[in-house]
Amino acid sequence: MYRLPMVLVAGLSDRTTSVNPTDFIGFHPGAGQITIREDVNNMEIFITGGAGFIGSNLADHHLGRGDRVTILDNLSRRGSDCNLEWLAERHGDNLRFVRADIRDYEALRGALPPNAARVYHMAGQVAVTTSVTDPRDDFEINALGTFNVVEAVRAVAPEAILFYASTNKVYGGMEDIRTAESKDRHRFLDFPDGIPESYPLDFHSPYGCSKGCGDQYVRDYSRTYGLRTVVMRQSCIYGTRQLGVEDQGWVAHFCIAARYGRPITIYGDGRQVRDVLWIDDLVAAYGSAAERIDIASGQIYNLGGGPDNTMSIWAEFGPILSQLAGRDIPVARADWRVGDQRVFVSDIHKAERELGWRPRVSVRDGIERLWRWVGDNPQLFHP
Ligand SMILES: NC(=O)c1ccc[n+]([C@@H]2O[C@H](COP(=O)([O-])OP(=O)(O)OC[C@H]3O[C@@H](n4cnc5c(N)ncnc54)[C@H](O)[C@@H]3O)[C@@H](O)[C@H]2O)c1
Repeated sequence: MYRLPMVLVAGLSDRTTSVNPTDFIGFHPGAGQITIREDVNNMEIFITGGAGFIGSNLADHHLGRGDRVTILDNLSRRGSDCNLEWLAERHGDNLRFVRADIRDYEALRGALPPNAARVYHMAGQVAVTTSVTDPRDDFEINALGTFNVVEAVRAVAPEAILFYASTNKVYGGMEDIRTAESKDRHRFLDFPDGIPESYPLDFHSPYGCSKGCGDQYVRDYSRTYGLRTVVMRQSCIYGTRQLGVEDQGWVAHFCIAARYGRPITIYGDGRQVRDVLWIDDLVAAYGSAAERIDIASGQIYNLGGGPDNTMSIWAEFGPILSQLAGRDIPVARADWRVGDQRVFVSDIHKAERELGWRPRVSVRDGIERLWRWVGDNPQLFHP
């Protein structure tokens, strides 16, 4: 097993600092003169929530390019330690891990390399359901935690490009939007290209409020303080290293449950439509935004599969999974969940136009890749 260079900065329970200097192996972020190097190898990268699904894929991408990556994560997401172990085994010394909580400003500030070229803020309370049962926790992690991140960047690494993983939930439940339904899916009547960034904000659910708060802080720190920030309003992202559960990460959750015979509950009528984006396409979008930061700075982009990459969550997804599994997949049914949109499809024209980016992995291809990965990694799902 690889021994990860690790700085345990603060635990949630005791708030003490324990740093073992011998764990720094030839990697001293921020030592010496500060130079920001963008679009060359050996960049300094800082990722909050880097042990999670999206964060670990971003880390893998950068480490594979020869960049140096610091991950700050409190490992609260079940299985995130496995993602970290996977990264450490693949990449070794260019990875540094700080176990800390984004609610702890001093820990965050201390971990952020002053010469960071990019900061990806991915840490978060990620489930709408949990936000409803524990709204204070949700607020403190997503709203206050994001405020801590923008403040830390302003104080320590003001030259860095700061990316924030926002969400389509900032547009709310969209109850007033006209939709039509057919046998297998709901669809927009008036937005054939999907929902653009100019659509009115209408935070719905504590998660929508806390993520939306972060979304607006990150955007405003570009206006007010001149930071180079980019807000990505992500739709459903799916892919390898996604340890989906019922409350979050539904594409992976359904694949895992179908593959290993676990229960699946469909809330609502199962014809809710989502645009889905394969993780590599998301990572590519972040890269394109960094390359075009003169245009992207201070901007907000909807990132999703767009109208060409949609499916209904069970009426269409279920048959694909049945085909892959070679059997019928039984499901239980339950009422609609709070804030659940009948349809959400991102209008991705702005990202296409300004970032020169578009999704490349089709829904079918992505699901097959995810299905294979889930099957190839049973140890992740039978702890
Ligand atoms: N996956 C999606 O489809 C999707 C869609 C829209 C937005 N997002 C946003 O993207 C970000 C990443 O999502 P993901 O799917 O990778 O989730 P994830 O749960 O896999 O990763 C989040 C990581 O943050 C860590 N974390 C949680 N609370 C923390 C805290 N207080 N301090 C430090 N670390 C903490 C977790 O341990 C985990 O490793 C989140 O902010 C989420 O809201 C995700």
